Amino acid sequence: MIHGPARVLVADDSEDNRTLLIAMLAGNGYQILEAGDGEEALRLAASADIVLPDVKMPKPDGRAVCRRLRLQPQTRFLPIVLVTALDAKQDRIDGIEAGADDFLTKPVDRTQLIARVRALLQLKTQRDDSERLRSEFTSMIVHDLRSPLTSIIGFADLMAVDLAPGQRREFSGHVIASARQMLQMINELLDLNRLESGLSPVKQQTISLGLLLDDAVAQAGPLAAGRGLQLRLDVPRDLPLLLGDDRQLRQVLTNLLDNAIKFAKQTVRVSARHVDQHVAVTVTDDGPGVAASELSELFERWHQTESGRTLGKGSGLGLAIVKRLVDAHGGTVSAVLPPAGGLAMCVCLPVPNGLPVPNGLP
Ligand SMILES: Nc1ncnc2c1ncn2[C@@H]1O[C@H](COP(=O)(O)OP(=O)(O)OP(=O)(O)O)[C@@H](O)[C@H]1O
Ligand SMILES: [Mg+2]
Repeated sequence: MIHGPARVLVADDSEDNRTLLIAMLAGNGYQILEAGDGEEALRLAASADIVLPDVKMPKPDGRAVCRRLRLQPQTRFLPIVLVTALDAKQDRIDGIEAGADDFLTKPVDRTQLIARVRALLQLKTQRDDSERLRSEFTSMIVHDLRSPLTSIIGFADLMAVDLAPGQRREFSGHVIASARQMLQMINELLDLNRLESGLSPVKQQTISLGLLLDDAVAQAGPLAAGRGLQLRLDVPRDLPLLLGDDRQLRQVLTNLLDNAIKFAKQTVRVSARHVDQHVAVTVTDDGPGVAASELSELFERWHQTESGRTLGKGSGLGLAIVKRLVDAHGGTVSAVLPPAGGLAMCVCLPVPNGLPVPNGLP
């Protein structure tokens, strides 16, 4: 990433040429670095954001500087603009082979110089940003996969010795839980990537939301019961039919129920209302809720609140997936803090015109 003014390295053995280029670059807020030969250019390049080497410079020449910079990991992508003589066609071909990004011909035109430097610095910023995101992403995945894997190895080690049957059951339970946690995270990451790259199109199926809610709540029953929680469903019998992707909408509900059950103290409520051209489904719990300032951040990938991190059962991807799935259905999802405490997650989905209301459905 470029911090502060961008640093432009001007490398030429002729002091006059350097002075000329520096004068042309003046007034654009750049910090200028100067090198009088190739060796000095190579030494200073690591602290530059862009290099302008003269082809005819001695010890080594501009092309050799290019080649060497491309071989060093920290300068592999450093923008390089070779400065060549006007008629030196071969210089350009050699320069491309050596890895230069662009050329300037002498006598250098100020407008061309500024335009090339600006464009390449912009590209560098974009590349640095995406490199930083990629490396943050990788370290988060590695971090989140390491802890369940360590636990699997630890318990598997313990199971390698003779154990009482009760202990074997307990330890294998830990192994399975950790392996499931890893699998869930991998599946979530794949889902997110598929959604973000548009590889997961929304099917247009006719969906009975009432049945879907019934199913999702029934499926979450054992999890809630395991935590001693009440799971309540409050849905009118005449909810309209929706158009959407059955599997994806189930995933939305499962994620919201999963969170609510994870945080609730006593009760999780699922309700649905048909208002105008929308259906609003709300999953409410009576857990610790979140700070008002964090409400909008919950849907960012990897975001976890203090209590989310302490519980340690998840990776902060569930709600990012929920948001993308709901967006893809033309709906909205929001987190609300109910006056009585806890957290309410509200999903609003559009009701298409012309579909019948299913009578007698839950
Ligand atoms: N019902 C809730 N009550 C309190 N905090 C919640 C609730 N739902 C979500 N959160 C907070 O939002 C964070 C993000 O939720 P999200 O579902 O994206 O991730 P997660 O549950 O931590 O992991 P996973 O990727 O397994 O779903 C949680 O870690 C938690 O801090
Ligand atoms: Mg979750």
